[in-house]
Amino acid sequence: MMNFTRRGLLQSTAAISAAGSLNRIVTAQAAAEPPGTSEHAAPGPRETLLLDFGWRFHLGHAQDPARDFGFGLSQKTYAKSGAGVSDAAAPTFDDSGWAKIDLPHDWAVALPFVPSANADPKAEEDPRAEHGFKPLGREYPETSIGWYRRSFAVPASDLGRRLSLAFDGVFRDCMVVLNGHIVATQSSGYVPFDADITDFVNYGGTNTLVVRVDATLGEGWYYEGAGIYRHVWLVKTDAVHAVRDGTVVRSAVNAGGAQLSLSSEVVNRSDTPKTCQMRFAIEAPNGSQVRTASVTAIVAPGQTKMFEKQLTLAAPQLWSLESPALYALAADVLADGRVTDRITTTFGIRTIRFDPALGFFLNGKPVKLKGTCNHQDHVGVGSALPDRIHAFRIEKLKEMGSNAYRTAHNPPAPELLDACDRLGMLVIDETRTMSSDAEGIGQLTRMIRRDRNHPSVILWSIGNEEQAQQGTELGARIARSMKQVCTALDPTRPITAAMDHEWGKGISPVLDVVGFNYRTDQIEPFHRQFPQQATIGTETGSTVSTRGCYVRDDAKGYVVAYDTEFPSWASTAEAWWSIVADRPYIAGGFVWTGFDYRGEPTPFNKWPSVSSQFGIMDTCGFPKDNYYYYQAWWQDRPVVHLLPHWNWPGREGQAIKVWCHSNLDSVELFLNGQSQGVRKVVANTHVEWEVPYRAGAIEAKGYRNGALVASDRRETTGPAASIRLSADRQTIDANGEDVAMLMVEIVDAQGRVVPDAADSIVFRITGPGVVIGVGNGDPSSHEPDKASQRRAFNGLCAAIVQASRQPGPIRIEATAPGLASAAIVVAAQPAAQRPYVA
Ligand code: GAL
Repeated sequence: MMNFTRRGLLQSTAAISAAGSLNRIVTAQAAAEPPGTSEHAAPGPRETLLLDFGWRFHLGHAQDPARDFGFGLSQKTYAKSGAGVSDAAAPTFDDSGWAKIDLPHDWAVALPFVPSANADPKAEEDPRAEHGFKPLGREYPETSIGWYRRSFAVPASDLGRRLSLAFDGVFRDCMVVLNGHIVATQSSGYVPFDADITDFVNYGGTNTLVVRVDATLGEGWYYEGAGIYRHVWLVKTDAVHAVRDGTVVRSAVNAGGAQLSLSSEVVNRSDTPKTCQMRFAIEAPNGSQVRTASVTAIVAPGQTKMFEKQLTLAAPQLWSLESPALYALAADVLADGRVTDRITTTFGIRTIRFDPALGFFLNGKPVKLKGTCNHQDHVGVGSALPDRIHAFRIEKLKEMGSNAYRTAHNPPAPELLDACDRLGMLVIDETRTMSSDAEGIGQLTRMIRRDRNHPSVILWSIGNEEQAQQGTELGARIARSMKQVCTALDPTRPITAAMDHEWGKGISPVLDVVGFNYRTDQIEPFHRQFPQQATIGTETGSTVSTRGCYVRDDAKGYVVAYDTEFPSWASTAEAWWSIVADRPYIAGGFVWTGFDYRGEPTPFNKWPSVSSQFGIMDTCGFPKDNYYYYQAWWQDRPVVHLLPHWNWPGREGQAIKVWCHSNLDSVELFLNGQSQGVRKVVANTHVEWEVPYRAGAIEAKGYRNGALVASDRRETTGPAASIRLSADRQTIDANGEDVAMLMVEIVDAQGRVVPDAADSIVFRITGPGVVIGVGNGDPSSHEPDKASQRRAFNGLCAAIVQASRQPGPIRIEATAPGLASAAIVVAAQPAAQRPYVA
């Protein structure tokens, strides 16, 4: 059990301290006229301002206070006033020499890859491989601490309002200082938190915000990044306002329509009791207002009160994978007749059910969960993803036929769930710390409160391969305590945990849906023994493969892209899917993983490998061959995909293994026009041939009911001649955040991708955009991601271009010595800015 040694400690460690709760409600900037009244059209009682732009950043030092801006010199770690905590916390501190950065920001991605100083070359694994060889940790004090500074003005007119800072996620162990006062500390790298700064603000003047982030320790066994890698918001409200994450919409669907239970928590931070009215208005997916309701109560000073209402919608539009219809609940708060707040919460109406005998049901219809597990990093940006990249990744998975996503092993960025809601992708939402201590419960609570209105979320996962808990009575006690919290906060979703052995023991009977990591063949005996418990493959597969690689090279860290290689605890794609596809009682499975990720560089767990190779796609999102296996068996369009490439000079006459992933009845293979035989396709498997190599072309023709339906070809290419450049979208928003995902293909004179091309591509931009990262999917590449050039890997590389706030054409040119260059234009169109702190 390799996971025991490698991860046992980290996975069972529940270490960290809890902090206040933060919401992720979509907030309206101005309260529109409340339904059913013509008075009180007061503008904007709540402001939610993006605080991402215009920060300064500098590395600190984990051991030397002098190089850590004096932090710790005075031992004033909890100074309640003044700037004694650090020189950098003083408003007068000169940060003009610090780097100018915008959030989201991951400083680790910009650090070099550093091999272990004392690695044992004979050892099978290098412990530093887990985090992707980035110099973080106690050995690297000079690159493990990050300091962020920013100042912002608050008008005198804000006095009397409540002001807070909302952090969506900081990796990790951070201290937030405003005007010299510590206003929050947070050790979790994954849950949102907020800092109520009302009492510390300099009204009518400048405010100095400083965040110290300590990424010395990690929380997982994979790349986790470092820094303020999700959004930060400045939130201003009236003293009487809706509590963050305190608004919930639940629905029950029956013949009479949808019964909606609405509830919203309101807090009165004024000094006098308030007669509060909560006005609910439901907006249909087309934007029309379909129902209103209101409820009134007195809220005492300092009190938080829940406002509840039941409503029936006669003919609701259900949220489904094909048609992810989203409703909105506008909740207006009135205090003594004055509108003091409005929040808008997006929700969907759907039913879910896990049936131990028949699997998962969405809206009463069986849906096999065709899922992937994923970590949160992407090429070029590490863990600091602009919002669009979350959607880009979900789109790629959907194109493959996937309908489900597991957020391994932590609560995701809120934008990931927004994308799943919008695009139609089901989610297992997983907490990081399986514990019933204050920290574990705090993380779980914040995850559920934040995420419980997302229709995409169908399961809460309380843990992953917790070696000390999963098979023990202690674990069962912890699981019961966590389940109680889940049920109290959200009685509508079942819970699961990902177990890798000891099913039937420990936490297993506590779970509503028992998760199987690998060992998919053990679900059947479990099901026979425990027919009353629903089952799911929480981790399945997983084939390790290098994109475009068909000859293993241990020294370089490359493994073949046929569906043949897998670690001892895992299986091929065909092996697990063949089991799950045919057994209705298994709700589905989640492949480990959809995308390659940094760190945990299996199967070569040491230098020079820096990324995992479990992905069905590489770190850029370029499909590997198994992508087409899943596409063939997870969706209905005809698929014929041929591998490998057909450039094998020097191997003339030698047998080459040729595979085809297809969902048609049969496939016939041709070499230079000569048939190599017809293969009947057996469901959930591939077909293959051995073909003596001759330059030219192989072609696969796929037939259904005797008719040619689809084909695929691989041709022996000429040498690299030119660059082909494309973008996922021709038009992006000029809002300082949106990105275009660029792909470079190196092609020969006839436009065919040269399968081993490795030319170094330089990206040049003119117009209002910048390259924020590059990559190529090579699991052993040590080239920087923060650069404007990248070598192609097996013919491809990627760049991410971000718009500024200036509209106009962004022209990107890609050049390489000896190749004809390419250029494209991405239009940055005028776009509404989300309100931000200037
Ligand atoms: C699992 C674990 C994952 C990943 C995977 C690699 O045991 O839950 O996080 O490490 O193994 O195969």
